[in-house]
Amino acid sequence: MKLTKFLIIVLFTMLASGFKMGYAQSSQLPNLGETVSREIIAKEALKKDAVCTKCHDASETAPVLSLYQTKHGLRGDSRTPTCQSCHGTSDKHVKGDPVTKVRVAPDIVFKKGAYPISDDKERSSPCLGCHTGTKRNNWDGAAHQNNGVACNSCHTAHKPTDKVLAKVTQPEVCFTCHKEQRADTKKISHHPILEGKVSCADCHNPHGSSGPKLMKKNTVNETCFQCHAEKRGPFLFEHQPVVEDCANCHNPHGSNITPLLKSRPPFMCQECHDGPHASQSPVGPSAAGKQAGLTVAPNKNVVGRACMNCHSMVHGSNSPAGGYLQR
Ligand code: HEC
Ligand code: HEC
Ligand code: HEC
Ligand code: HEC
Ligand code: HEC
Ligand code: HEC
Ligand code: HEC
Ligand code: HEC
Ligand code: HEC
Ligand code: HEC
Repeated sequence: MKLTKFLIIVLFTMLASGFKMGYAQSSQLPNLGETVSREIIAKEALKKDAVCTKCHDASETAPVLSLYQTKHGLRGDSRTPTCQSCHGTSDKHVKGDPVTKVRVAPDIVFKKGAYPISDDKERSSPCLGCHTGTKRNNWDGAAHQNNGVACNSCHTAHKPTDKVLAKVTQPEVCFTCHKEQRADTKKISHHPILEGKVSCADCHNPHGSSGPKLMKKNTVNETCFQCHAEKRGPFLFEHQPVVEDCANCHNPHGSNITPLLKSRPPFMCQECHDGPHASQSPVGPSAAGKQAGLTVAPNKNVVGRACMNCHSMVHGSNSPAGGYLQR
């Protein structure tokens, strides 16, 4: 008897929910169910936040509630962190230490202030809990992780805009630690980094990389080819140092020798080509030297940019007669 009653109830519930589901699906009000559940998610999340926001409210000097103006503030999205997802449950901070009654620090302190700052690995761990994969696959062991840099050394959480994410403001963040690159970007020849057209992250993955120097791609050259595709080749006659690494001759951040050269030609070329030169062609600067009345004409090969006057195809040549990179 009891069993049949139970079965009848089950049947009714199934019918009822089935009916409701059918209704929702055929309804002219899509997303109704979703809106309701989002509201519930948001309420639950705000209730969790209230553990902290009952004290850390609009009266704080440093902005705290402006978190709600960031992507981490979307309370209707179940993936979004609450205060405690980042700062830890922090029971002893919320209630005070049960023995001493002192309000100890929250589990994770990101910024020095009332309490000492947590170490870099502790600060990165909650972030990595949600943001692993793809771009951060090589975080562990990479230059930043290895040298005590944490996620929040670059990112902010509570400010409405995170400077490091915008092309124009990103370099400021990097320059707080990388002074040499700041100086380079102000030289005569430079990538338009300060102009906001090329960003550090166009060439580097600051989270880690399988290439050298946190390169965004696997090699320096692959990184450059993203924008300078014409230098990729293939060439009939390659120039070995170009194939190997663009940074053999260029300083990508900036230089006073145009275009972004590491040293001044012809000396730059002669760092590798220091033997006697085969060509005795009587043109170029040596002729100019003679005209200037010098007793010994300066060697045509070591004056000015002379090498490139003849060897104009330094990056490689596709001419059948381009073996000496002259055409
Ligand atoms: C009962 C009140 C209270 C509650 C609840 C509370 N805090 Fe605090 N919190 C304080 C006080 C007091 C300080 C000391 C510094 C100050 O005056 O802001 C503090 C400091 C902090 C600091 C360091 C601020 C700084 O400027 O150095 C952080 C971070 C923090 N709390 C996070 C949290 C988090 C996260 C929660 C929730 C898990 C929480 N707090 C809950 C009262 C509270
Ligand atoms: C509980 C999971 C969670 C935790 C913990 C978390 N995040 Fe996020 N984060 C998210 C979600 C969800 C988004 C929004 C993603 C989207 O819109 O696709 C996001 C977005 C971001 C973005 C992109 C913001 C933008 O405006 O595009 C950055 C940067 C970021 N998080 C950094 C951090 C850092 C740094 C920490 C640690 C201090 C952290 N996150 C902790 C879930 C989390
Ligand atoms: C050295 C500075 C630096 C550090 C340290 C850093 N980031 Fe970033 N992060 C950036 C930059 C720059 C961008 C923008 C990248 C772009 O535009 O491609 C970014 C973008 C992001 C984004 C949004 C885009 C995406 O990749 O989905 C997330 C999420 C993020 N970082 C999370 C983290 C986490 C988690 C950590 C710590 C493990 C961390 N970051 C450490 C500089 C940093
Ligand atoms: C995504 C991770 C994340 C979430 C979520 C988060 N915080 Fe923070 N919190 C940080 C980081 C990182 C800092 C360091 C300052 C900054 O980056 O803006 C910080 C700083 C603070 C500070 C110190 C203020 C300062 O700048 O000195 C307080 C207080 C605080 N958080 C409380 C809260 C409260 C309350 C919530 C929930 C409403 C919360 N946090 C949610 C990551 C987070
Ligand atoms: C909090 C300080 C800090 C900030 C901010 C910072 N870095 Fe670094 N960076 C370091 C340290 C420390 C190292 C490792 C030591 C070194 O090579 O100087 C490093 C190393 C590097 C390297 C060399 C990697 C290698 O393998 O030798 C690159 C490239 C780099 N950072 C790029 C960036 C970019 C791009 C940004 C901004 C998005 C940035 N950094 C922001 C501290 C920082
Ligand atoms: C056009 C591509 C490009 C851009 C943009 C770029 N870098 Fe680099 N960066 C490189 C290359 C390539 C190297 C490796 C140079 C080498 O091997 O000599 C490098 C090396 C570095 C190093 C390591 C230097 C060393 O001697 O170990 C740091 C630090 C660095 N970059 C920071 C930055 C910062 C900060 C920015 C933004 C202001 C930035 N880079 C923008 C391509 C770039
Ligand atoms: C995100 C795109 C981008 C990447 C990646 C990039 N460049 Fe550039 N490069 C530019 C732009 C934009 C200019 C400026 C062009 C102009 O001013 O007309 C430029 C200019 C140059 C110049 C000429 C500078 C001058 O003063 O005339 C050289 C040399 C150069 N890049 C080398 C490199 C090398 C080497 C790499 C790889 C390490 C690289 N670039 C990666 C965008 C890029
Ligand atoms: C052997 C030294 C050397 C190497 C290696 C080298 N370059 Fe150059 N690059 C030069 C010289 C010299 C110039 C100036 C040419 C001139 O003024 O005739 C130049 C000019 C440039 C320019 C500006 C003018 C133009 O041709 O567009 C770009 C862009 C450039 N190089 C990109 C690259 C890239 C990308 C790589 C790596 C694939 C690379 N370079 C490797 C020596 C080199
Ligand atoms: C980092 C070293 C390096 C630099 C810098 C360099 N080269 Fe080369 N160059 C080489 C190597 C290696 C070869 C291949 C030599 C071989 O095949 O015997 C080569 C080949 C050549 C050739 C073809 C010679 C032949 O026998 O095939 C010419 C021409 C040349 N370089 C001119 C220049 C000029 C002009 C510059 C300056 C813009 C320059 N190189 C800078 C290393 C360099
Ligand atoms: C006036 C034109 C001219 C100038 C300037 C010039 N070269 Fe050459 N170079 C040639 C010719 C032509 C050849 C082909 C060999 C020959 O015909 O003697 C050559 C050949 C070479 C070779 C192939 C090996 C060899 O010695 O035959 C290298 C390497 C080279 N030049 C490097 C340089 C460098 C580095 C500079 C600048 C210091 C330079 N050249 C300046 C015309 C010139």
